Amino acid sequence: MCGIVGYVGGRDACPILLKGLHRLEYRGYDSAGVALVGADGALNVYKCKGKVTDLEHFLEGKDLCGSIGIAHTRWATHGVPNDVNAHPHYSESESIALIHNGIIENYRVLKDALIENGYTFRSSTDSEVLVNLIEYVRRTNDCSLLEAVQQALKQVVGAYAIAIIEKSNPDEIIAARQSSPMVVGLGKDEYFLSSDAASIIEYTEDFVYVNDGEIAVINRHKPLKVVTLDNHESHVDIKKLQLSISQLEKGGYPHFMLKEIYEQPGTLIDCIRGRINADTYEVKLSGVIDNRSKFVDARRIIFVACGTSWHASLIGEHLIESICRIPVEVEYASEFRYRNPIIRKDDIVIAVSQSGETADTLAAVELARKAGAFVFGICNVVGSSIARATDSGAYIHVGPEIGVASTKAFTGQVTVMAMLALAVGREKGTVSEDYYREVSKALLELPATLTEVLEVGGQVKDLAKIFTYAHNFIYLGRGYNYPTALEGALKLKEISYIHAEGYPAAEMKHGPIALIDAEMPTVAIATPDHTYEKTASNIEEIKARGGKIIAVTARGDEHVRKSADYCIEVPVITECLMPIVVSIPLQLLAYYIAVYKGRNVDQPRNLAKSVTVE
Ligand code: F6R
Repeated sequence: MCGIVGYVGGRDACPILLKGLHRLEYRGYDSAGVALVGADGALNVYKCKGKVTDLEHFLEGKDLCGSIGIAHTRWATHGVPNDVNAHPHYSESESIALIHNGIIENYRVLKDALIENGYTFRSSTDSEVLVNLIEYVRRTNDCSLLEAVQQALKQVVGAYAIAIIEKSNPDEIIAARQSSPMVVGLGKDEYFLSSDAASIIEYTEDFVYVNDGEIAVINRHKPLKVVTLDNHESHVDIKKLQLSISQLEKGGYPHFMLKEIYEQPGTLIDCIRGRINADTYEVKLSGVIDNRSKFVDARRIIFVACGTSWHASLIGEHLIESICRIPVEVEYASEFRYRNPIIRKDDIVIAVSQSGETADTLAAVELARKAGAFVFGICNVVGSSIARATDSGAYIHVGPEIGVASTKAFTGQVTVMAMLALAVGREKGTVSEDYYREVSKALLELPATLTEVLEVGGQVKDLAKIFTYAHNFIYLGRGYNYPTALEGALKLKEISYIHAEGYPAAEMKHGPIALIDAEMPTVAIATPDHTYEKTASNIEEIKARGGKIIAVTARGDEHVRKSADYCIEVPVITECLMPIVVSIPLQLLAYYIAVYKGRNVDQPRNLAKSVTVE
């Protein structure tokens, strides 16, 4: 989704802004632009359709002077991706420039009112409406830019993170936030602004997260000031954030996605670190310890999430129901929030989100909190909106995920859910000592297991070449691995653009089997579990109808090998953690098929890494 960068200080702003935009590229976008106030007082806006490199070419030979500026990558919502709709947007008099993430829902009403007052518009965006509204308020009320922003935003319905600079005030950026991320980085006599702290981490470790309804007044000569729309001053809470730049780079891999797949043994070490005692196998999650009675007395747990995080939640449902004997529901956050759901005070709502910024999941969190439920977050990005909006939580600590297709976050989420289930199950007395030890020991061994699993990389690459022809795929799994099948199908479709569907294997006979022919490959997960024999029969049924089968099996499985065309063998660990093992070859299969098809793996078409609009 859209990305924001801003700078004010003693250095040339443009290189910092462009570098920041490059770091935000992973979020997905279709145009980019920059606005600078030069030493001569000119407010220059440069923008174009395409990538940040296109913008860089466009900037050649232009006046790029200025130590204050704002920059943007746009993911189109209102109006097609083109040069005019790209941000920044000038106000009509070209005295103000604005960048905006989010959606102004009542932009039509505001636009009509501005047109009646003589305004004309260059673009089809809702964002241009906002910059003109700010200019209109400033002009008619003869007020400061801050007051104009405050008054204008009171008229706005929707979500936004905005940054504004003005020709007549070359020392100040005004930035505001409502339901869209925004963070200010503090340097020595300089400030950085971004929608993602990672994009400016090379300049500072000190960050101030702007909250909903707040406006940051970022003046190069003054301490940072944060005020509300009603001009009440907020406490400026500086947080430390440490990230290494190497985590934001490809490190010799051709794509971030491949790097992130191969990182998983290491990311799970980070995820588990300090949470399982290697001698006693004791699992300790501070979010559970601090809220013991909430978990022990919970009548129900409701997971809210989207996409891959929703798939991980389906595995969480199995884990918690079987280990803690607490009824669990798994909801698409986007449906939950509009469904008038029944939420009770003794329910626990667990919001699962890699980015911690997904608009629907954030809204579901707010709904659950209003209804009085205890809300727990499972997030990756430290300090993200969902992490801050929840009552408690557990980070997955897998490091920045840059590839649009989620990989290491999925395995981190399932790992945290397994630890959570063990911790709660122990407190409730619903898990036997033997099973507790079996699962926590397997969790400790997971990094080594995944290193072994990754050895299938070469074989999966060869298989991918064979199947590049396919236009459709079916993924089958049961029990803990039904969500893994859904996740495998999602990975394939989002980066290769091949249509793929996941089904519980036993559902095939209820319809989907009609699709089977030689052109429809099936990826069947048939690792040992209590439905293994039944899945093996389903595979035979597909074979009998001429379908091609890639099976993911246990090492040395001879039974399924007889009917499958190809077998990817993986090591076997305790059943409830097998989704983590099985997801690895499925990630690799999707990756290599997409590469053979020449797709942009890290930035697939139409997709955004963090979905901050509905
Ligand atoms: C798929 C993918 C998406 C995200 C979804 C939720 O690979 O990445 O389906 O899982 O947009 O994102 P988060 O977890 O950031 O809330």
